[in-house]
Amino acid sequence: MLIEKLANYEQVSSAAASIVSDAISEHPKGLFGFATGSTPVKLYELLIASYQRGEISFEQLTTVNLDEYIGLPSGHEQSYSTFMQQHLFGHVNVRSNSIHFPKADTNPAIFDQFIQDQGGIEMQILGLGSNGHIGFNEPGSPFDSRTRIVDLAPSTITDNARFFDSVEDVPRQAVTMGIQTIMDAHRIILLACGPGKAEAVERCLLGPQTEEVPGSCLQSHSDLIVILDESASSKLT
Ligand code: F6R
Repeated sequence: MLIEKLANYEQVSSAAASIVSDAISEHPKGLFGFATGSTPVKLYELLIASYQRGEISFEQLTTVNLDEYIGLPSGHEQSYSTFMQQHLFGHVNVRSNSIHFPKADTNPAIFDQFIQDQGGIEMQILGLGSNGHIGFNEPGSPFDSRTRIVDLAPSTITDNARFFDSVEDVPRQAVTMGIQTIMDAHRIILLACGPGKAEAVERCLLGPQTEEVPGSCLQSHSDLIVILDESASSKLT
């Protein structure tokens, strides 16, 4: 595990952008895993800038996303496919048929099979929930879980209410890559910023590996890069 502690969100995003850009240049036909949420927004801005400068191309890339809400109409402004269009895919030359999200209306195992058929995920980008979740693998998720439908934890519903008009509008379920699906990625880059993530960061990286802290599984990954800002790393000694 490599942990980089940087001063702020801008530095975290630019360090992450340089790692992801290098990986895309090295594996231009690779399968790359993306996350949504506030954390990777600046990283995606920097990847768009790098694409616009002609440094990277998404033309032959295949993408998978970690998760998608269940119950939002297609095209809903808070759906994760809309998020990815707005923050990355709509601004680069990725082919629309190369973009993949886990789906609730088909057997979720198809998603894992697809990933395996592609030779696995070259690099998976992860954010971290304040409760230690990765993807929507909430506390208690089995470490050997695969892509499946899950109930969102009350703390996730509260955390994500900021994106909706009210907490009642936050979906209660999602479809998510499983923990084992994420752990099978060849490389993982985990980003966490802000004081609200400090405790989760400490429990994931230094605490015992337990299904009560889903991100603690990452301690066993053989190629994990963690990039933190000062406040998210404040509880690491
Ligand atoms: C998003 C995802 C989540 C987020 C996590 C952190 O696709 O799977 O695990 O990465 O909830 O969200 P932010 O970045 O909004 O703090």
